[in-house]
Amino acid sequence: MTVDQSPAWLALKSHAQSLSNKHLKEMFAEDPQRFAKLSFSAAHCLADFSKQRITDDTLQLLIGLAEQQQLPQKIEALFTGEHVNTSENRPALHTALRQPKETPLVLQGVDISKEIHCSLERMEALVEQIHNGQWRGYDGSPIKTVVNIGVGGSDLGPLMTCRALNLFTTDDIRDIELHFVSSMDGSQLARLLNQIDPASTLFIVSSKSFSTIDTLANSNTAREWLVNASGLPVELISQHHFIGVTASPAKATEWGIPEKNQLHFWDWTGGRYSMWSAIGMAIALQTGNQNFRRFLAGANLMDTHFRTAPLTSNLPVLLAMVGIWNINFLNIHAHAILPYDGRLEHLPAYLEQLEMESNGKCVTLTGEKLNYATCPILWGEVGPNAQHAFYQLLHQGTESVMCDFIAPALRYQGHGDELKAQHQLALANCLAQSRLLALGDSVLEDAANAPSHKRYRGNQPSTTIMIDELTPESFGALIAMYEHKVYVQSVIWEINPFDQWGVELGKQVATSLLDQFSNPTTTTDSSTEGLIRFVQQQRQE
Ligand code: F6P
Repeated sequence: MTVDQSPAWLALKSHAQSLSNKHLKEMFAEDPQRFAKLSFSAAHCLADFSKQRITDDTLQLLIGLAEQQQLPQKIEALFTGEHVNTSENRPALHTALRQPKETPLVLQGVDISKEIHCSLERMEALVEQIHNGQWRGYDGSPIKTVVNIGVGGSDLGPLMTCRALNLFTTDDIRDIELHFVSSMDGSQLARLLNQIDPASTLFIVSSKSFSTIDTLANSNTAREWLVNASGLPVELISQHHFIGVTASPAKATEWGIPEKNQLHFWDWTGGRYSMWSAIGMAIALQTGNQNFRRFLAGANLMDTHFRTAPLTSNLPVLLAMVGIWNINFLNIHAHAILPYDGRLEHLPAYLEQLEMESNGKCVTLTGEKLNYATCPILWGEVGPNAQHAFYQLLHQGTESVMCDFIAPALRYQGHGDELKAQHQLALANCLAQSRLLALGDSVLEDAANAPSHKRYRGNQPSTTIMIDELTPESFGALIAMYEHKVYVQSVIWEINPFDQWGVELGKQVATSLLDQFSNPTTTTDSSTEGLIRFVQQQRQE
């Protein structure tokens, strides 16, 4: 029996029918205790689900579905290293990366906790060498520029976190500048190489597989640039200017990274779950080793909550189940991520990869085709800017969209009133938008008399996630909450969130097309051939 035929699913389906005519404005009018009943907090985060189209009964039925799918056992399986990544037959142990050193975790007879902390300490030692000017470029200059080269999980997490924790930048970083390069076409690198000094630049090549063409193309260009600038042999350049962070040491060595410049992690760390490993080196460089550990500790706090709290008050579980309600029972397939804090500008892109690469799947763990929806389309933007871009569609378009509003309750502590006023302005806008999306123009007295193009229908569901303050701990907890949400949804949908076979074929086809631009030999399709011909004509002119 597939989950959509199961008793818990069918009960939710008929419950959804019984609620189908109920507007959020009625739900609020009927129950003044909605916020008290439907908001939950843990590990620096408060999640308010009262603006979701749910009642107490909905939550009970959703928890029933989670229990039916044996969620508590599946959570244990994740933490204890069972092979939850079935298509690649391995565990997904990103939670182990943020466990304290004293907590052992034995995997095939080896305490991986020891290995994890060994790698963390090696990373910290390298960070210190760079901070205190001991790491030198080819002419003896201390490092002034660090460039992280990576893509996807080897770029988005560190980039997002460095921006989010900008206020926690350590003094140890002195005047070192940190950059991120990911784009395959070389545009970021082209701009950067004109501005930086080769002798004092260090590249961190971050790649789990060490075979991602985007990252290798950027790394090759960077190395060529250094060799040309210095006139020195490539081996010497690699020694002084490249660190490799990878789960494929042999490939990093083959590319030319000396072993002493390598930091390793493990194949049981998914790429999009990897910033807690040495892939997070850029975060440690910017914020300092201590703050990186605070970031891990915050995630660990959420892990403990996820593993031990009852399902009925478990934040990641509730976030996931409310998502399931929207997607599978209210037929909402668009999800906007709206942080009301500019420091979280990269959170939408990060969550796009986390959610869509994990749960954008259409077959079950055993390979059967699904006949129910899985991951919705996610997109987002810093909320106040998005208000001037796509909120029109949220308020008056034809699509139902679920939204996550995310904001810190405190900001600019110790600053003047001007900046505090701006924080308050952002919060007021955050609350105004979610209120209007939920209640529509019923917030006005005489809305019914307005012309139809000025009406707001409301009833768009949203969750507001407030963190106390944006710190390494709260940010770690927030991201861990989303990771676990994704896992819970995968358990309900019976899919594997830890593989990404859908991105492989594109890579192969691109490789096979490379030669076609200079030497078109194989027949593809009229569109591809026509476009290649156009490029060739432009080159000849
Ligand atoms: O192509 C998708 C992907 O494999 C992601 O899952 C991953 O985060 C990214 O590419 C980068 O991979 P790597 O770290 O192996 O270079």
